[in-house]
This record gives sequence, C-alpha cells and structure tokens, in this order.
Amino acid sequence: MKVFINKRIPETGIKMLEEAGLEIILPEKENLSYEEWLHYCKNTDVVLNIGSEFKYDKNFFEACPNVKAIALYSVGFDHVDIKEASRRHIPVGNTPDVLSRATSDVAFLLMQSVARRASYNFRKVKDGNWGSFDPLHALGQELYGKTLGIFGLGRIGFEMAEKSKKAFGMNIIYHNRHHNEEAEQELGAAYVSFEELIKNSDVLSVHAAFTPEHTELFNYPLFEQMKPDAIFINTARGGFHNQKDLYQALVDVTNPEPMSPDDPILELSSVCILPHIGSATVEARNGMARLAAGNIIAFSKNEKMPHCANSEVYSNHSS
Ligand code: DGY
Repeated sequence: MKVFINKRIPETGIKMLEEAGLEIILPEKENLSYEEWLHYCKNTDVVLNIGSEFKYDKNFFEACPNVKAIALYSVGFDHVDIKEASRRHIPVGNTPDVLSRATSDVAFLLMQSVARRASYNFRKVKDGNWGSFDPLHALGQELYGKTLGIFGLGRIGFEMAEKSKKAFGMNIIYHNRHHNEEAEQELGAAYVSFEELIKNSDVLSVHAAFTPEHTELFNYPLFEQMKPDAIFINTARGGFHNQKDLYQALVDVTNPEPMSPDDPILELSSVCILPHIGSATVEARNGMARLAAGNIIAFSKNEKMPHCANSEVYSNHSS
C-alpha cells in the first residue's frame, strides 16, 4: 500500500510506517504547487497530509479516485470536505489530544505577552528605543482574579482554563455546544450565553473547531461589545476573526495565513502574533506523527482508524 506524505514528519512516524511494510512516497522537492501535489495524490492509496494549503474538496476527490484514506497531521479538519469523504467511504484520521498541552501553552503565553506588552517592549529594545524609566508608558495589566472566557471548551480550552485558574486565580466562563461537566466541577467554570461571554470576558480565548458558519464571527461589531481593555486570543483558526477588525488582540493564527509583513496590525503596541505554532513542540509533533502513522497502519490492516474525524464511515460500511 502506497502512502504519500507531502512533507517530512518526525522520524518516529516514518519508522512505524516502514516497519508496517508500507511504501512511503515523499516529494522530491519542498513547496509543491497544487498540480504537483495532486499528481502525487493521484498515484497513492493513502495521503498523510501536513498543512492546510491544499483543500480536500470535491475537485480533489474526483481527481484522485485511488485515494482510499486520508490521515491528517493535525487535529483540525476544516480543510477536508468531510461529507464528501464520508459519502465515498474514505476515513479521515486526525491527531487529537497530543497537542492540547502545547497549544494551550501558546494561548497562555500570548495572554501574558499581550497583558504585559512583551512584543512591543521587545521591539523597543531591538530598535534602540529602550529610553529611561517612564512611570506612565506601555503599562500592561495584571491578570489576577480576571475573567477568562473560553469559546469552545474541549481539551485545549480546558488546559488553557486550568493553567489560567492555577496561575492567576482567573474566573472561568465558557460558551460551547455542550456543557463541559468536568470543567464545571474541577474549575468552577460557568456556562454562559455567547452574548455574556463577549461582554464579561477580560480575556476571550478561542478554542472551538472551525466550521464555515464561524467565518469572521469575531469582527468589529463584536469587538465593540467587549470590555475596553479586553484581550482576544485566537490559537484555533484564522478564519474565526476579521483581521482588519482586530484591535486589542493577540493571535497564533492569522487571516490569511501567512500574513503580510506589511499588515498595519503589526504596528499596534497591543498585539502579539505568532505564525501558527500551537503544536510546535518536539513532544506534540512526535505524538502527532505516531497518531497519524497509527491511523494509517490500522487502515492498512482493515481496522478502524483509532482517531477518525468521520467515524460514520465505519457504520456506513457495515450497514
Ligand atoms: C491542528 O492540529 O489543527 C493544528 O492547527 C496544526 O498545528
């Protein structure tokens, strides 16, 4: 069985696939064009996908009828037309949990970074503008006892809430599709309406899975309803926010990605932007490699993928 991997992943995953006797195809060069990528996909059984620049849409599925399974090197699957994959009985594996700690660490890092204007102050030092002690300049805010609002309280949101509670005694409010009883019991998190979340959060952190209905949900009219010093954190997907409407913001994901170095938002003293590095730790990336390889190996043995974004494909098969 042929497995096309569009970029190198940590060796641990490659080794697992090799030991399982699978044929690995890696591209001859980096940064494939869409056509080059499609050409590789047409000639493979399974795609192990890294990144989200190419979409698994109807066009892909029509062009690549030989692809029987997709293993994503990500927990998010917003770049895959899941319905179409399911309709074609193609399982789509993903990598949950192993990156929750790393991603929530970045949200926590960003929260502190913007609260204390770390990026702005670092730039001042770098630009030779350290200046003399100024009691009134570039003052940040303390997070102790403030309210953290979580939009989408799954594993990553839980980890962010837990850290913030332990470190700063923050009150946790959240809005989610379902109640998160573990967070309510362990962290005293309170379920609130979306409107309450927006109005009452001192820090609003986005951790939901992105779907098209969420496109630019966080925009100017909504930022206007937030507290004047509120901090907005987005480590989920850039599509959640309108980039132009961001004001007091800090994000790990931008809209679009990669963003232009000339974007005026980079001049704001209240902003900290990182290039989508939520899962970028050795531990998380190794874990992702193992889960992605494990999904493929299970598929090659005719077993269910242990982490599958469309597990309905299995019930469809047996019916
Ligand atoms: C994910 O897993 O969805 C991340 O965004 C990739 O780092």
